[in-house]
Amino acid sequence: MDLNSFISKTANPVHYKTSWEAPSNIALIKYWGKQEQQIPKNPSLSFTLSSSVTRTEVDFQPKLMSNFDFDFYFHGNQKPEFKLKLQTFFKRIEPYIPWIKEYKLTIKSQNSFPHSSGIASSASAMAALSLSLMDLEKHLFSNIEDSFFNKKASFLARLGSGSASRSINGPVTIWGKNKTLKTCSDFYAISYEKDLNSVFKSYQNTILLVDKRAKAISSSKGHNLMYDHPFAKTRFLQATDNLDTLIPIMKSGDLDAFIKIVELEALSLHAMMMTSSPYFILMKPNTLEIIHKIWDFRTIQKIPVCFTLDAGANVHILYPSVYKREVIQFIDQELKSFCKDGKYLLDQVGQGPKKL
Ligand code: PMV
Repeated sequence: MDLNSFISKTANPVHYKTSWEAPSNIALIKYWGKQEQQIPKNPSLSFTLSSSVTRTEVDFQPKLMSNFDFDFYFHGNQKPEFKLKLQTFFKRIEPYIPWIKEYKLTIKSQNSFPHSSGIASSASAMAALSLSLMDLEKHLFSNIEDSFFNKKASFLARLGSGSASRSINGPVTIWGKNKTLKTCSDFYAISYEKDLNSVFKSYQNTILLVDKRAKAISSSKGHNLMYDHPFAKTRFLQATDNLDTLIPIMKSGDLDAFIKIVELEALSLHAMMMTSSPYFILMKPNTLEIIHKIWDFRTIQKIPVCFTLDAGANVHILYPSVYKREVIQFIDQELKSFCKDGKYLLDQVGQGPKKL
């Protein structure tokens, strides 16, 4: 798709108010390394989550004086630390939504999940905001079709946080050009739904909270370290190949093959962190304890449970919904003691955002 098709026209400002709920997502094929304008170095694939969501209300007031402006509230409080990130986002997206210059925005946002819990809040937050912006764009220019609405929302969200591009659709989304699915793009994510095996439609994601502190290194710093990484080229090829292998598995539902790719991706992401310069380790001793317990449980019980990791110490346990009872029992008996205050969060694959 041509980049110019995402540039809208200007329009006379109107007062408008909208609210959207957008979910977070958990990557199975990991995005780690990018070029300018959030173009990924390799394609990625994720499960859209169901209960881990951001709800955002945006009030668009026409502005008489020039200069776009906004106020941002998170759980009712103004958050100056988020303002800078949002300013960068609005600067990046302004060429594509020039009508925004005529407005003062009041943005009120809240998350359904705790801060620094191993759930990507930037993905759900940027997705909910981008959908609200597209909602006004649709109000201003009524000829916008649903498929374009979602593509452009994903396109805008990507400019806020790469992984946010994957939070516009459910249940599985793919972002980035690849050999297997020609409709994929580096500019936005698309939904993988039609061919998805039914086992994945209700796949469970239980997040074990090993460490609730904020990340020691931000994901943007981590992405930047891939520029001079000695293994970067090989990693981008590996992720691309892993995606090509995983797509048919998402259709067939071969869980042994699924587990091999998903765990390999999680450990490869962390291997990149451990071998960058400067190197860093986000896993904690309890992360490894949990991984080994999962491997033992899988071997002994023959239950297809596996793990993935985000950029942090918390462990995302993935399993088919039919095994929910057995896996929760296993978590309560054997894994809970490795979690901070014994805490974990239950989530599962979801359908994507909603207008509230
Ligand atoms: O979207 P960002 O810039 O926060 O990067 C996300 C990176 C990972 O969460 C580690 C992987 C991914 O694909 O979501």
